Amino acid sequence: MAVLITGGCGYIGSHTVVELKNAGFDIVVLDNFYNSKPEALRRVRELVKGDFPFYECDIRDAEGLRRIFKENSIEVVIHFAGLKAVGESVTIPLEYFENNVGGTVTLCKAMSEAGCKKMVFSSSATVYGMNNPSPLKEDMPVGAVTNPYGRTKYFIEEILGDLCKSDSEWTAVCLRYFNPIGAHQSGTIGEDPNGIPNNLMPYISQVAIGKLDKLPVFGNDYDTHDGTGVRDYIHVVDLALGHLRALEYALEHTGWEAINLGTGTGYSVLDLINAFEKANGVRVPHYFTSRREGDVAVCYSDPSKAERLLGWKAARGIEEMCRDTWRWQSKNPRGYE
Ligand code: NAD
Ligand code: UFG
Repeated sequence: MAVLITGGCGYIGSHTVVELKNAGFDIVVLDNFYNSKPEALRRVRELVKGDFPFYECDIRDAEGLRRIFKENSIEVVIHFAGLKAVGESVTIPLEYFENNVGGTVTLCKAMSEAGCKKMVFSSSATVYGMNNPSPLKEDMPVGAVTNPYGRTKYFIEEILGDLCKSDSEWTAVCLRYFNPIGAHQSGTIGEDPNGIPNNLMPYISQVAIGKLDKLPVFGNDYDTHDGTGVRDYIHVVDLALGHLRALEYALEHTGWEAINLGTGTGYSVLDLINAFEKANGVRVPHYFTSRREGDVAVCYSDPSKAERLLGWKAARGIEEMCRDTWRWQSKNPRGYE
């Protein structure tokens, strides 16, 4: 019995593949390399010192999926594949709906057909929208999202909920990630964004290495301890380990569940810059500029449901997140190129 990992060559997927393989799971990986490189797959195989089936396939390709389910005995799917750039989703919303929502529907149909009815899905804290106060809890209202990307995550959660209601054999565990950062401690795999990073941590590390000049800090007039935005940063390896626990939970339960994966602690933009400089002995020149549209002042999790249901808790602190990011960045100044 194997676990199918869609989007397994991406940032979070690659780290999860390593942890699953190290824990002894049989895995099958699928990716279309839209936002990742074969080199990531090569390095993962090297890290785990073992092989596993890989399919270059798109989740919108029903025939391709059918073949994967036919050739492998898959019991559960961890579904990472999708587009994730918030700004881009405003410009090309249909691509986001087709890839994320359409792709997930095609995947669920292929799963049902093959009798595989268990999914762990990559959702996001973005589903909580603008109106809920932190700490964010799973029973708060969701859906007041501010962009098409967020809407795809919200829609997929709802679709999976309807599917579980329609068929009591289905299980869907929607993991609402907060802000994943960091890299594998080996420094061989990590986040490799295309072009100028949208997210804070890769921007910080590219400034530190001299690839970018100065970090723009979006707003210093928020109602937070230093005026800059507060987020719940979580080490990507902790996040990967959360998937292992979610997988075990999915194998033993049926029905729909939403679970936060965060640390429960918020750090501001300036906190993260300072932590990065201190942990790595480097400078991160920055300047203040206007707020970014759609950003909330504060966003952090109540992580207690994950601990209660999955027995999982984030273990790695901000210093380790900064050190591991820097190891990856300094060993691979040009990412996977
Ligand atoms: P990523 O872009 O690094 O990984 C996604 C992978 O999916 C890539 O390798 C890409 O090539 C692949 N992919 C995309 N569309 C595909 C398709 N149609 N068919 C097959 N493969 C496809 O992103 P990530 O940071 O690893 O995120 C993984 C998941 O977690 C995504 O669904 C993302 O929306 C979600 N998420 C990420 C964050 C974050 O901050 N990184 C936060 C919350 C949720
Ligand atoms: N920020 C800057 N400068 C930058 C980039 C970001 O000041 O160049 C600030 C933002 O304003 C925010 C904080 O750094 O206050 C974090 O921003 P990120 O873009 O790194 O992360 P977000 O919280 O905006 O969004 C991330 C993912 C989304 C996901 C969301 C919730 O990008 O996909 O977390 O999980 F939905």
